[in-house]
Amino acid sequence: MACESLRVLKQDDTLFMMNYSKQNEHLRVRFPDEACHDVFEGVWIDNMTIGHSPRRFIAAHPTILHSTKSKQNRFYKDQVAVPHQNPTNQRIKRNLANGSKGRMPYDWFYFGLVKNVSREKTVHACQFPQVLVEMLIKACMLENDIVLVLFGGSRSEIEVRQRLNHRFISAEIDPKYHRIIEDRLREGRIVTEHRLLYRLRREAFSSTLSQPQLFNNAGQYTIRFRQRVDHATWQSSTQTA
Ligand SMILES: C[S@@+](CC[C@H](N)C(=O)[O-])C[C@H]1O[C@@H](n2cnc3c(N)ncnc32)[C@H](O)[C@@H]1O
Repeated sequence: MACESLRVLKQDDTLFMMNYSKQNEHLRVRFPDEACHDVFEGVWIDNMTIGHSPRRFIAAHPTILHSTKSKQNRFYKDQVAVPHQNPTNQRIKRNLANGSKGRMPYDWFYFGLVKNVSREKTVHACQFPQVLVEMLIKACMLENDIVLVLFGGSRSEIEVRQRLNHRFISAEIDPKYHRIIEDRLREGRIVTEHRLLYRLRREAFSSTLSQPQLFNNAGQYTIRFRQRVDHATWQSSTQTA
């Protein structure tokens, strides 16, 4: 797949491959290190816990292989520049006077996960944050460029590309995710039934009684429970002893 993706790229295009670090290490030495002009590695840092064990640190950093097909790879620093922190510094002042928009970003990227309570979150198990995708796209693409989103997923990447006026080609093998993409394309938004929050609430309401909360903030004995009403309201009932 990586091989075919590289084949369809233009000489100045870029291939980004985001994966768990171990899988990317295997992939890197098997293909892009040989086939690409150059391969750079970025790290997405977040409190995303990929693996726990009592005998090692928590694995929490997917990597992004940034592979270029030729020496002429396009990179638009101004579209992703990080504003200078110290604009009073003499060197920075000169850079700003010469039109600098900021410094080149480092290749470790701090972006929060798409939280379960986020409106952006669908029922897709592995959704990338749109801000991260947007940064990668802006780094090497301009309006009207064609982007191959090899794995459609929840369609969050496709949406970013549409917002930035890129054309795109995409594929998704899983029928339930494919439906999310189709519905989202048709409606122009995440359809309610595909939102994770909606699903969680629906499942919560299907169980009639939750764990009782025994005391309220005033220390009074309280019984709270969820009643099965409708999907829009959480209803609780309180009895003071
Ligand atoms: C990591 S997720 C992509 C998430 C996506 N970037 C997003 O933010 O929603 C990978 C997706 O690739 C799909 N997939 C896996 N193998 C595939 C294949 N051979 N062809 C098309 N899609 C595939 C999976 O079903 C999954 O939805």
